[in-house]
Amino acid sequence: MEILRDGDIDPAPLAGKRVAVVGYGNQGRAQALNLNDSGIDVVVGLRGGSASGREAEMAGLPVALLEDAVASANVVMMLAPDEIHSALYCEIEPHLRHDTALGFSHGLSVRFGFVEPRADLDVFLVAPKGPGTALRSLYSEGKGMIGVWAVAQDATGMARNIALAYGRAIGCARAGLIASSFAEEAEADLFNEQAVVWGAVPELLVAGFETLVAGGVAPELAYLECVGELKLIAELIEERGIAGMREAISNTAELGALLGGQRIVDASVRERMAKVLEEVRQGRFARELRQEEASAYERLESARSQARQTLLEETFQRISGAYK
Ligand SMILES: NC(=O)c1ccc[n+]([C@@H]2O[C@H](COP(=O)([O-])OP(=O)(O)OC[C@H]3O[C@@H](n4cnc5c(N)ncnc54)[C@H](OP(=O)(O)O)[C@@H]3O)[C@@H](O)[C@H]2O)c1
Repeated sequence: MEILRDGDIDPAPLAGKRVAVVGYGNQGRAQALNLNDSGIDVVVGLRGGSASGREAEMAGLPVALLEDAVASANVVMMLAPDEIHSALYCEIEPHLRHDTALGFSHGLSVRFGFVEPRADLDVFLVAPKGPGTALRSLYSEGKGMIGVWAVAQDATGMARNIALAYGRAIGCARAGLIASSFAEEAEADLFNEQAVVWGAVPELLVAGFETLVAGGVAPELAYLECVGELKLIAELIEERGIAGMREAISNTAELGALLGGQRIVDASVRERMAKVLEEVRQGRFARELRQEEASAYERLESARSQARQTLLEETFQRISGAYK
């Protein structure tokens, strides 16, 4: 797989072009600021009365109403929440110039049909593989966050070059830009969110904590063992890979990991993972996401408040000084 870096990419396709960043949240803020610092002409597009407009202005960025921002731009980056992309695209489409390049940082809304872009538009993906806060802080330190790029529609013959120049301007090519497709990026990302890092790992930590507490271990110690050590293993894996991490820990921990890991993550876990991937590909999660938005985020709000009232959360609050 080809990994492109700064030196492989021509920045010229964005020279003299204006980029409208639609949304100034997690990714919007980071990408707009990185583009601006890379010398790109940026405007932040927001709806009237937007809460985030003031923040963008305070950061020295020009802010305009959605329709004005996109009408003035050659490149429009969709950085509002995925579940509103369908309504948002309908609102901005009449204002998009002929030949505009329409960008996304997640393949979801094109892969699952939330957005069906006009035929004259270039459609590209530049998806940084991490949160906007880290995208911005890495850029400010002269580093970058690895990202994935793709083209879904190449109306002008320039879509690839614009995507790469965009990925370079937000700093991703300092670390590396990997070619993919909207479908592959969307499916892999949604799978991971549910079945691995963001879905299964926290549940594993909670299950471990609750098992130790039920077995008579003090909550503080259970927390330190099951949750507190996550950062240490994440750093070791980032630096050395999984095999290197295992070599870096004690023989006791390594043997424990060897004997215990596959008892917990057994064949049945892999079967359920395969089912999650299949359901993602069939669009089940995409439908759930739209339903969630339609119900004013009822399930998410309820889960957020329940998660605040657990023994694990109380324990975190008591000992959180240790993590600062
Ligand atoms: N979060 C991440 O770190 C991350 C990582 C990789 C990729 N992505 C992708 O990046 C995209 C943006 O995600 P995000 O997490 O950055 O979003 P977010 O923080 O939730 O976006 C919030 C911004 O969107 C604006 N917005 C909300 N509803 C709007 C509407 N109806 N019309 C216009 N603007 C609206 C908000 O403006 P108001 O002030 O008006 O509410 C605010 O500026 C998504 O495609 C996501 O999958 C995100």
